[in-house]
Amino acid sequence: MIDYKVLIADLLAKQVDTLTFDEILGLVEYPKNPAMGDYAFPCFKLAKTLRKAPVKIAEDIAAALPKADEIESVSAISGFVNFKVSTAHLAKSVMTDILKEGAQYGKSTLGAGKKVVVEYSSVNIAKPFHMGHIRSTMIGESLHRIYKALGYDTVAVNHLGDYGTQFGKLIVAYKKWGSREAIEAAPIPELLKLYVRFHEEAEADLSLNDEARSWFTKLENGDEEALALWNLFREMSLVSFNRVYGKLGVTFDSYAGESFYSDKMPAILDELRSKNIVEKSEGAEIVNLEAYGMPPALITKKDGSTLYMTRDLAAAKYRQDTYHFDKNIYVVGSAQKLHFQQWIKIVELMGYNWAKDCVHVDFGMVSLEEGALSTRRGNVIFLEDVLDKATEKTLEIINEKNPDIADKDTVARQVGIGAVVFQELFTSRQKDYSFSWDKTLSFEGETGPYVQYTHARSCSVLRKANIEAFEDIDFSLLGDDASKTLILSLGKFNEVIVLAHKNYEPHHIARYAVEIAQNFNRFYHDNAILVEDAALKMARLALVKSTQTVLKSALELVCLEAPEKM
Ligand code: ARG
Repeated sequence: MIDYKVLIADLLAKQVDTLTFDEILGLVEYPKNPAMGDYAFPCFKLAKTLRKAPVKIAEDIAAALPKADEIESVSAISGFVNFKVSTAHLAKSVMTDILKEGAQYGKSTLGAGKKVVVEYSSVNIAKPFHMGHIRSTMIGESLHRIYKALGYDTVAVNHLGDYGTQFGKLIVAYKKWGSREAIEAAPIPELLKLYVRFHEEAEADLSLNDEARSWFTKLENGDEEALALWNLFREMSLVSFNRVYGKLGVTFDSYAGESFYSDKMPAILDELRSKNIVEKSEGAEIVNLEAYGMPPALITKKDGSTLYMTRDLAAAKYRQDTYHFDKNIYVVGSAQKLHFQQWIKIVELMGYNWAKDCVHVDFGMVSLEEGALSTRRGNVIFLEDVLDKATEKTLEIINEKNPDIADKDTVARQVGIGAVVFQELFTSRQKDYSFSWDKTLSFEGETGPYVQYTHARSCSVLRKANIEAFEDIDFSLLGDDASKTLILSLGKFNEVIVLAHKNYEPHHIARYAVEIAQNFNRFYHDNAILVEDAALKMARLALVKSTQTVLKSALELVCLEAPEKM
């Protein structure tokens, strides 16, 4: 579609010579109150250089602007020049594109030829995939989809926590109290049970800790039995993680986790030493970061073993060497902010200018509503149980409200899980928020099910109309306020995707989907669609089809499915 902001900036540039075209373009905005106009140009910045009142400047500009077919009216209000675009022009420009491009509409080739590594989820082997992991998983998957939609070449990485002393403990516990059958039957609960039991028994019997340490050393030295057990724990954990990823529609290109970097430790340590970045401190090796206002980063422990930090340094270097990324993104909770600041600074000190392309996309905590999901030690809330419960509850609601739809189980899964996922992505990522069942499963207001329901409603109208092709559309028939507002929203899709990728913020898209749904429902309320008048019916149906197309794409970008009936 035509870019109205550019068009308006073009018109303005002919009147305003104290600002560059780009400065003007940057100032063109959507008015807070849509009744004022569709676009606005604030004159306050100009007032400073021209030393004239903004109100007067706006009036002068409005009076002098040349006429353009695309613009219906121009007015000056309180220091803003407001523009109303011509509806027929707008509708034609936006809807022709949507109807022609279909699922491609809104997407672009902005990132063509550029490589982005997105790391997300990064769950820990043998530990529960709990509610806290859902944010990293869903923000990451959504960003992955957003980058793809903009033509970037993407690599999705799950940096599994599959290395560390806890594996020594698990091996001891498994050999004493575990069995292969029990782990195969229910991997994570069984491994968790073993882990909890180890800690209980180790309180009374301190020798267990020594045993665990020695098994971990064996594992590090490649002992066959230790490796086989570690592999069993890892494989079985992955089976159950992949079941959850399947339910969420989440995929990865690589599961190279912490253990993958074990054999890359010597090289990174050599490099740090030869570049004089590390110093000895009480037998350990550290990087002194005082000059950058940060505490020292521990690189090797007294016993020479490496740490989480060391593995992250090796991982970043590996990703640059392997993928030659233009951007290397980590979707990890804000609790690890310092950790990321430290190692990214160290990469910089190593002299790699790609340090600036490493981005920690942090997010706030999910807390659990009192009662509903409260967690006690050993009594963890598994994400999968939440997804299943959401599906079950949704099925109950469907049975109550719409018992006759086909394939109820699939719809219940799409909507139930969609509700959980949407709630994750609707809040801006840095905000903490509390999980609530009522809010999650509400079908009204700013929720996933509300957007999905609106999409299904548009599908149902299209089914009833049963027309083959959208042709000979008289766009001037879509002049009412509700239609115009909806069309303006549809026209913003690409802009919203670009913004979401720039800010690493899927919530822009979640909010946009709600905006479209609300504007559609107003349009649907104000206008009968399957009317006698064939031309009017065609125009309105084309708008329904356009809405359905954009809603479906927007839902997909925030990882929700779009059932056609619900
Ligand atoms: N496994 C870690 C955790 O659950 C997250 C890993 C984050 N990624 C990284 N490259 N450090 O806390």
